[in-house]
Amino acid sequence: MTAQKTATLTFSDGTPPVEFPIYEGTIGPDVVDIRKLYAQTGKFTYDPGFMSTAACESRITYIDGDKGELLYRGYPIEQLAVNCDYLETCYLLLNGELPNAEQRRDFEYRVMHHTMVHEQMTRFFQGFRRDAHPMAVLVGCVGALSAFYHDSLDINDPEHRFVSAIRLIAKMPTLVAAAYKYSMGQPLMYPRNDLSYTANFMRMMFGTPCEEYQPNDVLVRALDRILILHADHEQNASTSTVRLAGSSGANPFACIAAGIATLWGPAHGGANEACLVMLDEIQKQGGIEKIGEFIDKVKDKNSGVKLMGFGHRVYKNYDPRAKLMEETCAEVLQELGLQNDPTFALAMKLEQIAREDDYFVQRKLYPNVDFYSGIVQKALGIPVSMFTCIFALARTVGWIAQWGEMIADPDQKIGRPRQLFTGPVRRDVKPIAER
Ligand code: ACO
Repeated sequence: MTAQKTATLTFSDGTPPVEFPIYEGTIGPDVVDIRKLYAQTGKFTYDPGFMSTAACESRITYIDGDKGELLYRGYPIEQLAVNCDYLETCYLLLNGELPNAEQRRDFEYRVMHHTMVHEQMTRFFQGFRRDAHPMAVLVGCVGALSAFYHDSLDINDPEHRFVSAIRLIAKMPTLVAAAYKYSMGQPLMYPRNDLSYTANFMRMMFGTPCEEYQPNDVLVRALDRILILHADHEQNASTSTVRLAGSSGANPFACIAAGIATLWGPAHGGANEACLVMLDEIQKQGGIEKIGEFIDKVKDKNSGVKLMGFGHRVYKNYDPRAKLMEETCAEVLQELGLQNDPTFALAMKLEQIAREDDYFVQRKLYPNVDFYSGIVQKALGIPVSMFTCIFALARTVGWIAQWGEMIADPDQKIGRPRQLFTGPVRRDVKPIAER
């Protein structure tokens, strides 16, 4: 990076002014490089929640929150969602370019021939209670993969990094489906490598050894689109967690497990689950007629109620994924003969009312991808408790692509934020009788 511009910071406490280089990206805001601030002034910056901080340089995903634009390696999400499938999207995120036909075939072959998990893994599931949240199971099992693949854990070897990426992408559907099957008390299904990535996952989720599972093309395509839309989203909380964990040199399976743990929170990947719970609650209380009352509660700061599936740290315009998800939702409900699904009708009405309400307009709160993805998943037969696992499955490629980019970056250092300390100053321990 070379600086074309500089910024000068002046101080009111007599500290001499300091000049910092400014770097330009290909798109997006410039960044002021403050790495020398502490050495030159003895001061830190203060930015909890990273409101104004770029923590890394990246070439993978770009979001323009004001325009409502999402680009993977420069390609708009709308074009990828219509013209590509999830595995092509994975190839793009990992390699920087879309595959040609031969590269696609080769990539699919590699992924689909790493789908099985070690047979001993299946015993891990039995250690969990049947009613364990599947995200708890997933955090544990993905972390445990580190114990099985010692042959690909040298993070400084690009071939090891690639094999680990393929293994993670390939095995996540098997683990997610196994977590579901275990919770149901049904036999775990082995993968079928002749099916597409997404059809194989649906078969492992919904098939049983008792009869042949027939994938429905419309539903497979809908789930594949959910995976594409969730594949990456630049430096969000879980991705930043993966990068931070990886910055210490931790192995990729451990790093992805840390990402899964972060994704679980309701302000992040847990939102689609929380959104559907919210819609069911409104439905129970009277449905569309009760929307007004619910919106009043959301606007009351003391209620602690949020409109789940609305708002985003970066998108201050329509989340482009929400639009695609709304279309997919309509297609799936049509295919399943559920056009009059009351939850979908409620969601559309709620969106319409919220988008006309000053509270949401002024704060630029629009539906995010989670607003409709829960309805689609429910229609596909995926239970609410599995929603965040599907998100984790989809995001694995984004996490691993970002992790790989970080490891290969010569500027990479262990992540070590600093703090503004406001606790007690030094004091002495008194004997217990005097405290
Ligand atoms: N419902 C009601 N009010 C909201 C909502 C919401 N969903 N989201 C934000 N607001 C309000 C805040 O109360 C705040 O109001 P104020 O200015 O009067 O205090 C204002 O809008 C700004 O909100 P912040 O919390 O500062 O926005 P932030 O960028 O920190 O939060 C977040 C973004 C966490 C996504 C938030 O909008 C939220 O909690 N949404 C609901 C959960 C959700 O859908 N999460 C999914 C995110 S997308 C994803 O992870 C795939």
